[in-house]
Amino acid sequence: MTLLVTGGAGFIGSNFVLHMLQKHPDVRVINLDKLTYAGNLANLKAAEGDARHVFVQGDIGDKALVDGLLKKHNIQQIVNFAAESHVDRSIEDPGVFARTNVMGTVNLLSCARAAWEQPDGMYPPNARFVQVSTDEVYGSLGAQGFFTEETPLCPHSPYSASKAAADMFVAAWHDTYGMPVNITRCSNNYGPFQFPEKFIPLLINNAKGKKALPVYGDGLQVRDWLYVEDHCAAIDLVLQKGRAGDVYNIGGHNERTNLQIVSAVIALLQKHLGDAGISEALITHVTDRKGHDRRYAIDPAKIGRELGWQPAVLFDEGIERTVRWYLDNNAWLQNVASGDYLAYYDKMYKDR
Ligand code: NAD
Ligand code: TYD
Repeated sequence: MTLLVTGGAGFIGSNFVLHMLQKHPDVRVINLDKLTYAGNLANLKAAEGDARHVFVQGDIGDKALVDGLLKKHNIQQIVNFAAESHVDRSIEDPGVFARTNVMGTVNLLSCARAAWEQPDGMYPPNARFVQVSTDEVYGSLGAQGFFTEETPLCPHSPYSASKAAADMFVAAWHDTYGMPVNITRCSNNYGPFQFPEKFIPLLINNAKGKKALPVYGDGLQVRDWLYVEDHCAAIDLVLQKGRAGDVYNIGGHNERTNLQIVSAVIALLQKHLGDAGISEALITHVTDRKGHDRRYAIDPAKIGRELGWQPAVLFDEGIERTVRWYLDNNAWLQNVASGDYLAYYDKMYKDR
C-alpha cells in the first residue's frame, strides 16, 4: 500500500506517519508538506533511514507536483492533513486559510480524480480519499447535547469556515464523480509534537518559564480532548474499513473547561518540577477570542459501533504523558518556540 499523507510534518500528520510505519510493515508513505511555520522535520526523526518514508516539500495546491507524485508512486490512497490550523491566526489573516484549506483540497481532489477515475466512471477497489476535518465545522453547543454526523454545518471562525468548505467539496466529489471519500471530524487533539501556539503546549511552555498563562474570557469554554495516538488509530481504521462517502466523528468523551486544563497542567508541572513558582497565580484572564465557540462535544457512537474504534488513553493519562513529553523534549520545544512564532506571539498578546 502506497499512501500519500499531506501535512505529515505537522502535529497530527507526523504522529500519523509514525503510527502507519510502525503498525503496517507493508506501507509506503509519501509525505507531502510545505513546511510552513507549523511543519517540522524533527517530528519525523523516528522515521529517519526508513526507506518506506519519502518526504517531499511542496504545496498541496501545486497541480503539477501532486499529479506527478500520484503517477510516479502509483498512489491510490490519500489522507489530507495539510491545513492552516490555528483559529487565532485565521482571525488575523483568513486568506491563506482559503488558499490552503479550500483551494488546496480542491486541487488534491481534482488530481486524485484525474489519476483514479476509469473510463466507465469506476474507481480502483483500493482508492480512498480521507479528509481530516474537525468538529469545529458544526459550530458551538450549549450546555447540553453532542455533535453527531447529522448535525448541520454551522462554522463561525474563518478556520472552521474553510474546513467546512473543504468538507463540502470532498462530499461533492463523492456525490458528483463517485469518488470513494471519507471525512473524519475530530475534537481537540493533544500530545507530542503539538506546536506551542495551541493551548496545552502553550501552557506548558509558558508555565515552565513562569510566564503568564493567558485564559481567554472567563475560561469556562469547553473542549472535548482526544489523545493524538487515539486519533491516528481512528483514521487508520477509517482508511481501511470506512464506508465510502461516509463521515465519522472521532472523540473520547473527555470534556474539560479551559480552566480545568490549566489546573491539570499546573498540578503536573508542580509534581514533576517541584517549583512553587508554577502556580495558579500565573493564570491571567485576557480579552476573549472574537466569535469564541463556547462548547464542543463529540458523539463518537458511529465509529465505535461500525468500525469498533474506542479511545485507549483517558485524559488523566494522556495529559500526564504529554507534560512528561514536553519536559523530556525541551530542545524540540525551544527550537520551535523561536523566530516567527515569537514575533506572532508578541503581536497577539501585546495588548492583553
Ligand atoms: P498543524 O498546523 O500542526 O500542521 C499542519 C501541517 O500542514 C504543517 O506541517 C504544515 O507545514 C502543512 N501545510 C500547511 N499548508 C500546506 C500546504 N499548502 N501544502 C502542504 N502542506 C501544508 O496542524 P494539526 O494540528 O496537525 O492538524 C492537522 C489536520 O487536522 C488539519 O487539517 C486540522 O484542521 C485537523 N484537525 C486538527 C485538530 C487539532 O486539535 N489539532 C482537531 C481536529 C482536526
Ligand atoms: P486552541 O488550542 O487554539 O484550539 P481550538 O481553538 O481549535 O479549540 O484553543 C483551545 C481552547 O483554549 C479554546 O477555547 C481557546 C482557549 N485558549 C485560551 O484560553 N488561551 C490561549 O492562549 C489559547 C491559545 C487558547
